Amino acid sequence: MAPWWKEGIIYQIYPRSFADSNGDGVGDLPGITSRLDYLQELGVDGIWISPIYPSPMKDFGYDVSDYTSIDPVFGSMADLEELIRQAHARGIRVIMDMVMNHTSDQHPWFVEARSSRDNPRRDWYLWHPGRPGGRPPNNWLSVFGGSAWHKDEKTGEYYLHLFDPSQPDLNWRNPGVKAAMMDVWRFWLDKGVDGFRLDVAHLLVKHPDFPDSGSKFGFTPYSRQRHDHHSNLPETHQLWKEFRQLLDSYPERMAVAEPDLDGTGAEGYYGSGEDELHLTFNFQLFWRRWQAAAIQDAVLDWGRRVPEQGWPCWVLSNHDFGRHASRWSSGRRTDARAKVAAALLLTVRGTPFLYYGEELAMRRAFIPPSELVDPPGVRYWPLYLGRDGFRTPMQWTAGPGAGFTTGKPWMRLGPEADRLNVELESKDPGSVLAWYKRLIALRRATPALRLGSFKTWFDRPKSVLAYTRALGEQTVSVLLSFSRFSRSVELPAGTHQVLASTHRDAGAALSGEVKLQGDEALVLLQQERG
Ligand code: GLC
Repeated sequence: MAPWWKEGIIYQIYPRSFADSNGDGVGDLPGITSRLDYLQELGVDGIWISPIYPSPMKDFGYDVSDYTSIDPVFGSMADLEELIRQAHARGIRVIMDMVMNHTSDQHPWFVEARSSRDNPRRDWYLWHPGRPGGRPPNNWLSVFGGSAWHKDEKTGEYYLHLFDPSQPDLNWRNPGVKAAMMDVWRFWLDKGVDGFRLDVAHLLVKHPDFPDSGSKFGFTPYSRQRHDHHSNLPETHQLWKEFRQLLDSYPERMAVAEPDLDGTGAEGYYGSGEDELHLTFNFQLFWRRWQAAAIQDAVLDWGRRVPEQGWPCWVLSNHDFGRHASRWSSGRRTDARAKVAAALLLTVRGTPFLYYGEELAMRRAFIPPSELVDPPGVRYWPLYLGRDGFRTPMQWTAGPGAGFTTGKPWMRLGPEADRLNVELESKDPGSVLAWYKRLIALRRATPALRLGSFKTWFDRPKSVLAYTRALGEQTVSVLLSFSRFSRSVELPAGTHQVLASTHRDAGAALSGEVKLQGDEALVLLQQERG
């Protein structure tokens, strides 16, 4: 049997925004637990919860001040234990988010480190006296903007922060850091957590001499720098291999790496395919236009890059780059496109990751500048709108709190919440939610869709993406329209039964030339070969 993370579907929960049980306007763990039945009905096999550890919330949990407790805003350790217990009772695995490149500046390790130059914890972070003339140690930029170095007045040295100044980078060349983080992993694994999503997995180890970065083409100051001296270093891979061994000492655990957003070196985190991390996100679909050729190119490219023993995974949206319904929007056809995108995600070869609310076709919200809270959004608006717009509350029902909270939501609701919500979409067989459920059930029932080989068709109209998934005797064909117009497509010889279609009834038999409707997604089971 294939491991669960290969066959399964993983659903990302941004905990502030999923379900609020106590009316304070912020989502919490009992809220998630109360919605596990919904997730079970949807048919997902695992949830990845963005960070829930104590945090000053400068980067909304990605600035951790204690790796083995729960922030009171989300509940207690007992609440998490109950969540894990109830999830497992429903066959749902639980993945924690591990932020290991940096801590919060409020973490006791950093509080000690910054207290004096000779504090034993000093070397757990990256300090430097700076260059002559009061200049920072090098030209490295922070992902969130400005220099990646902050001069700490107390001891007169700079520390490195590749994100916000409140997120100092750890020194992964110090063995104490590795030992402490391994203890953190054991703590969670012993609690029964099923895996980890590894935040900025490419950044851990930096060049010991901190050479200047070279330049390249890019749209933001950070992306105009080459990151050769702090990204994808061989020492970082070595560390992940060691963590993999720790993971392998527990049964059925997994880890998924977040690589560089632009995908550089992403496939490296598979190692041989078996000795580093189980999965690596591939963000290519974030950047592609809604065009059959562009999407096909991304799928084939990743297929070539993932090592033979490795296994791909796919994602259309997340808390850093979200809401594909908006990215690929097209007026009244937006929901229809969201259905085609869902068919791609749930039938392509690899583990699908869903971002909460995408099953409703939730859209990105426009957040006025006065309501922005995301650090890069606050800094760069309107050049960069920030990430708040795709972290809006889950839309459970129509009405003021969208069924997310009885209080005032921490972030305004997304557009069309009164139409795009669980309550209404559950009742409508033509909704995006109903389509996700149908596809997920189909995937669960169809081994070729979960584990089968993948082959694109070369002979097809330009605006159609078509591929075959095959396993043993089972052959499934998928046809996706990227156009508003219908197109004739010649099916492989034989008869094909409709397993699912956005435009026709399941069960119908098709052969020869079919007219694929505009914005249609069609999944077919080969019955007789011609
Ligand atoms: C990752 C997270 C992002 C966070 C950053 C710093 O990219 O996904 O949300 O801001 O790391 O931790």
